[in-house]
Amino acid sequence: MFTSIISFLLFCIFATGTFAQSISIALPQEGANVTAGSDIIIQLDKPMSLTGSEEVAVVIGIESCPSGACAPPSEELGDILYNGPYNPQVVEGAWNPYENFTVQIPSTLSGKAQIGVAHLYLLGAGLGPILQTLNTTVNVV
Ligand SMILES: *[C@@H]1O[C@H](CO)[C@@H](O)[C@H](O)[C@H]1NC(C)=O
Ligand SMILES: *[C@@H]1O[C@H](CO)[C@@H](O)[C@H](O)[C@H]1NC(C)=O
Ligand SMILES: *[C@@H]1O[C@H](CO)[C@@H](O)[C@H](O)[C@H]1NC(C)=O
Repeated sequence: MFTSIISFLLFCIFATGTFAQSISIALPQEGANVTAGSDIIIQLDKPMSLTGSEEVAVVIGIESCPSGACAPPSEELGDILYNGPYNPQVVEGAWNPYENFTVQIPSTLSGKAQIGVAHLYLLGAGLGPILQTLNTTVNVV
């Protein structure tokens, strides 16, 4: 009985930990207008978490999909805008640690485009690798 309660609590901690490690795209906002050829800031937020995790890298891509449906970021990231380390920092006044990435929107794009992010990190006592993908849609003008 006691052991099963402990297991349950551990499960909760790990389940919460996994959830809490999921980063999010804070900027640009879904549906934002961005100018082709210009620099924009991609802000990736990492929630404060209970369990320790170790960052490995993020890849940020942009895929043109003027007709509407884009392939999921787990299949296609499109043009790679950034591929490298992710070091979210605690910034005064911000709710979560985050990192800003300045990337250039390709000048050839126009219309609807999907910004896809792949996030690789290590989680748990055994530091198991986890790949998270996320996306947001912008309108290139
Ligand atoms: C993007 O630009 C269009 C056309 O100017 C405008 O109607 C729309 O409100 C803008 N969207 C946002 C999110 O600012
Ligand atoms: C894009 O992200 C939204 C949540 O922000 C999600 O609902 C949607 O399934 C994602 N699309 C793909 C293709 O992964
Ligand atoms: C990150 O970018 C946002 C939006 O431009 C800005 O408000 C914020 O100050 C930037 N943070 C840092 C640490 O430069």
